[in-house]
Amino acid sequence: MEKKIEIAENIKFLEKSAIRKIVEAAPANSVNFGLGEIQFPPPRYLIDHAKQILDSKLLGYTHNAGLLELRECICNYYNTEFNNNVCVSNGAEEALFATFFSYLNPDDEVIIADPTFLAYRTIAEMLGAKIVAFDLDAASNFSLNKISFQKAFSKKTKLVVLNNPSNPTGTCFGKDEIDLIVKTCAEKKVLLVVDEVYRELFIEERPESFFSHKADVICISSLSKSHCLSGWRLGWAISNQPELIEPIIKVHQYLSTCAPTLSQEIALKAFSKTGMEESEKIRQQLLTNRKIVLDYLAGINILPNKSLPYLFVQVEVNDVKFAYELAKKGAIVIPGSAFGANAYGWIRLNCGIEKNSFLRGLKILRSYLSFIYLIDN
Ligand SMILES: Cc1ncc(COP(=O)(O)O)c(C=O)c1O
Repeated sequence: MEKKIEIAENIKFLEKSAIRKIVEAAPANSVNFGLGEIQFPPPRYLIDHAKQILDSKLLGYTHNAGLLELRECICNYYNTEFNNNVCVSNGAEEALFATFFSYLNPDDEVIIADPTFLAYRTIAEMLGAKIVAFDLDAASNFSLNKISFQKAFSKKTKLVVLNNPSNPTGTCFGKDEIDLIVKTCAEKKVLLVVDEVYRELFIEERPESFFSHKADVICISSLSKSHCLSGWRLGWAISNQPELIEPIIKVHQYLSTCAPTLSQEIALKAFSKTGMEESEKIRQQLLTNRKIVLDYLAGINILPNKSLPYLFVQVEVNDVKFAYELAKKGAIVIPGSAFGANAYGWIRLNCGIEKNSFLRGLKILRSYLSFIYLIDN
């Protein structure tokens, strides 16, 4: 018999995502509200700078942890002194992978929220760790179910990973929720990893970073959302305890040597005063789009969100079927239950897409929702 090259056991469970199947059901010119990416162009200021850099620098490898000046800039963003406590990565995704790889052994338990960003489960499971989910309650605007959170801990718990603000709900944890999370992790000596990639896209008030808490906390973020630089692959992991970042730098060295040097140069500008003003313009543009959605979908239950670009819309019926049927009509959304069973009956809608198709898509969505909500089409 011919010998077959087998893939590794650890990744055999990986499948084509449910989301991809929905996209495939949609006609060619469908409006895609399902994207996990903001469709606005990156700031001209950064692109022009990139061109200058290309003409003037060699762009070899940098230090594995990133350009020193950039690591200092990132610390400055967190109002802290540089202390070898940052690892610049290929987007937040690589920082997450390097962090999990640095701390998880097979059979360790990882606590995640239900619902939450899909990658946490997948990365942990690829490393042989077990997922334990705690509830965010749909009935109370996806707030933390404190009993469920505390019950999720066991002797095997190694790490809690949160997303604040949240993808998919756009909500943030409140002060008492944060206090409980940080205190519980500190008491149980569990590593807390907080993915804050949507922090700059707040609606009213910029959420505080978990960085400032006195616990074993690693914060992860990137420029993908704040500056619409998703393809530039520039993220980081930071902690107020340098020893927590040290193993991540080693893993990152073998994953990718360093983040793209051109992107690191651009990041220096992204953190400048002008760069942050450009990020603010992106936020304003998203706020305008959010208002259009809220006006257009008046009468429909939309979760009060604290950050962009996602809006979480209650459809009450089977959300997966809803998303399939809507896709056939030309608008793509992500069913809430793709992010966890507690989000059954909801859909995620990205409002960071191009204006014309955006309005066309909203029309399709409203017309479809009008049967459920008995509102005018
Ligand atoms: C919560 C969350 N974390 C991380 C990422 C990945 O970000 P990056 O492009 O920086 O890898 C995404 C992308 O959608 C996300 O939604």
